[in-house]
Amino acid sequence: MAKSPKLEFDVGWDLSPAPESTDHINLKGQYDLFINGKWTKPSSGKYFKTVNPANEKVLAEIAEANEKDIDKAVQAARKAYVEVWSKMPAAERGKYIYRIARLIQERAREFAVIESMDGGKAIRESRDVDVPLAAGHFFYYAGWADKLEYAFPNRRVHSLGVAGQIIPWNFPLLMAAWKIAPALATGNTVVIKSAETTPLTLYKLAEVIEASGIPPGVVNIVSGAGETGAAIVNHPDVDKIAFTGSTGVGKIIQRAVVGTNKKTTLELGGKAANIIFEDAPLDQAVEGVINGIYFNQGHVCCAGSRLFIQESVSDLVLRKLKDRMESLIVGDPLDKNTDIGAINSKEQLGTINHFIKTGKDEGAEMYQNSCSLPDKGYWCRPTLFTNVSQSSKIVQEEIFGPVLAVQTFRTIDEVISKANNTPYGLSAGVWTDKGSKIFNLTSQMKAGIVWANTYNKFDPTSPFGGYKESGFGREGGLHGLKPYLKI
Ligand code: NAI
Ligand code: MG
Repeated sequence: MAKSPKLEFDVGWDLSPAPESTDHINLKGQYDLFINGKWTKPSSGKYFKTVNPANEKVLAEIAEANEKDIDKAVQAARKAYVEVWSKMPAAERGKYIYRIARLIQERAREFAVIESMDGGKAIRESRDVDVPLAAGHFFYYAGWADKLEYAFPNRRVHSLGVAGQIIPWNFPLLMAAWKIAPALATGNTVVIKSAETTPLTLYKLAEVIEASGIPPGVVNIVSGAGETGAAIVNHPDVDKIAFTGSTGVGKIIQRAVVGTNKKTTLELGGKAANIIFEDAPLDQAVEGVINGIYFNQGHVCCAGSRLFIQESVSDLVLRKLKDRMESLIVGDPLDKNTDIGAINSKEQLGTINHFIKTGKDEGAEMYQNSCSLPDKGYWCRPTLFTNVSQSSKIVQEEIFGPVLAVQTFRTIDEVISKANNTPYGLSAGVWTDKGSKIFNLTSQMKAGIVWANTYNKFDPTSPFGGYKESGFGREGGLHGLKPYLKI
């Protein structure tokens, strides 16, 4: 149940629970692999459980794919590529992709509820962000399928073959859409693996793909943990690897494909800086900072996890920030009033708590929202640290949780050098009234995406990706077609 916040100004009432109904969802007790258009038992006979992180209840048992199963999936994808998909007129391919987009829209409520149950994110986010954007990516790339000659004028383009795709648990359906839609639009076939804690919406997507009538083998959906992912990466008949996840695994993958013909895109971690200048609209900036770090429990690679406030307004901004934090509702992901849902897994909660302890040990000052947390499940209060230095672990390392590290600055040059002082380079945010400052910063920040006077805005037409240890390659937009083509 959503716990109502303790506000400084007591509103005098509690918000009534407003849970989204689960009556309309259709979940099986067990999911098999989706290979060559058929629901296929794993050759090992092994299944693992996926739980709801908000109450620790088992939702379903999921097939664990091993090397043999991956080989089967890759063979199916190859056969579909050679015999059907690469020969099909592009406009026909586009029709299937449009159909997938429409079917996701038709089942949007079911997708949103299952996404929140399996991964812990607030229903407001899965309903208003994840699912509509996932459908949007299929719509957008469906449109490109028969227009590739306009995307790359005077160049000849050719599909690659079989794409192996590995996705994380923070945006399960959306990451699948980011990867499957451009691969299909460019004429490739797919073997995709979900993350081990969030396999369900990918198997719901398999039902959509089945219903779309797309030829068997064009999209194969599997599940399992790191070993299963490695079997995809190391399969000799895969032409392209697309990965989103930790920098550590990204490095393993890069080493594994050296000396092969596999093309790769890696979308890795981040430690984004959000910068507030004294001339910024401060309330709007505070709202953006809150959204930037606490959206999806901070399980976002582009989360604005470092905040830099210009010294002249730092006391004021900090006070506003703490007041706003105090009003955030942490609780049942299915409740429509909830701002912050459950941490995705026990392991991730352990990681986050470890960082919080490190912050305290390093002498930083901690502030947390004072709400009470449910007894069962994995929860973390929105947290901020002040009195941190550039070398603090919580400033340098990706936490992937609702933990913000706050620093101050005096001059533009100082904040640029501080913001760029990180091994990552995915995203950044800048808040100011002055256009010239925005241009100055966007050109000097080493980040793939810079948001100005807003944060965490996504659109299928806009490319996304990073520099340095945040990986390489772009997803979304016209740029997102390139990694799936020989040009
Ligand atoms: P992870 O990188 O281990 O998992 C991501 C995906 O890679 C999962 O599907 C996993 O099964 C697969 N995988 C794991 N080992 C593999 C291997 N050797 N070969 C191929 N695939 C493999 O990330 P994890 O452990 O779930 O999270 C750890 C940290 O990674 C987080 O705390 C966060 O800092 C970061 N992370 C970043 C993400 C992003 O969006 N950039 C997403 C998820 C995690
Ligand atoms: Mg789960």
